[in-house]
Amino acid sequence: MARIFIVGSGVVGTATGKGFLHAGHEVTFIDISHQRLEYLRSQELDARDVLDLRNAPDAFIFLTLPTPNVGHRYDLTAFEDGTASVGAALADATGDHTVVVRSTVPPGTTEGLVQTLLEKHSGKSVGEGFSLAGNPEFLRAATALEDFRHPWMTVIASRSNRTVERLTELLAPFGGELRTFSNPAAAELVKCAHNIYNATKISFWNEMWLVSQTLGLDLDPIAQTVARSAEGSYNPLYGIRGGAPYGGVCLPKDTQGFLGLAESLSLDMPLLKAVVQVNDTLIERADREADELAAELA
Ligand SMILES: NC(=O)c1ccc[n+]([C@@H]2O[C@H](COP(=O)([O-])OP(=O)(O)OC[C@H]3O[C@@H](n4cnc5c(N)ncnc54)[C@H](O)[C@@H]3O)[C@@H](O)[C@H]2O)c1
Repeated sequence: MARIFIVGSGVVGTATGKGFLHAGHEVTFIDISHQRLEYLRSQELDARDVLDLRNAPDAFIFLTLPTPNVGHRYDLTAFEDGTASVGAALADATGDHTVVVRSTVPPGTTEGLVQTLLEKHSGKSVGEGFSLAGNPEFLRAATALEDFRHPWMTVIASRSNRTVERLTELLAPFGGELRTFSNPAAAELVKCAHNIYNATKISFWNEMWLVSQTLGLDLDPIAQTVARSAEGSYNPLYGIRGGAPYGGVCLPKDTQGFLGLAESLSLDMPLLKAVVQVNDTLIERADREADELAAELA
């Protein structure tokens, strides 16, 4: 049985903590919202407003703090405050604690902001006073607890093999595929790419929906057919190798040609335009690199 503290007990924190409780671990929920604490206590959960690690045995401290956006940037104010409070608690701690970043954060946050704040407020160093890891959450809000208890993918990242092993021991029993990384930034990018990919796919089909509306066609049977016909849809490994632009005859021809059709329908297709632009940039880059290599060999 592990000792677990959840810092930030909203949607993700509550599902995480309840999932660990269900698996037989000892869990304490931390939150600064009194309303949230009352809600958690009404369910007979151990919920507190301050993290106190004095006399605590070796524990996992999960950061499930909010990381909203303000325009085109992440607002990490609450995340920073919560992380600083964990650092302060670590200052008084005697146990061997592992801080696990479970919030969705921009790549570089765990080894940048989090490590800096923890070291500053604890007066200890990572690897000596505490351990540090990333473990992004993939759950869906509507089915949060079920998704936590039955994950399809678990990602663990830490510079320390021992920390990866300890988190694997804790999380592997929940099942699903497990992938580990030594660089926490890789796990952070997994989670960001995961969300951005889903958003891009949804926007692609919404752009096609606008086209189908203009053409007087019902999108549903068309999209359901393409979901089965396009290799990019039915084969999860298709198109995921970076640095390789699409080529051949069909993809360049039909992306370019369709932009002309859209124009004739007075339809803007910003996503399709961006698809072509990204590919052109990669082709130019590949050509430049080939020229440089040829010049070097000459
Ligand atoms: N909601 C989802 O479906 C989902 C799924 C996967 C990942 N995530 C990510 O998980 C993270 C948490 O998201 P959420 O939806 O659970 O957010 P949430 O807003 O539901 O919960 C955050 C909780 O943190 C508390 N909090 C704020 N500042 C605090 C502090 N200084 N100390 C302690 N508690 C503090 C808030 O009171 C709140 O209860 C985010 O990074 C989010 O992007 C969310």
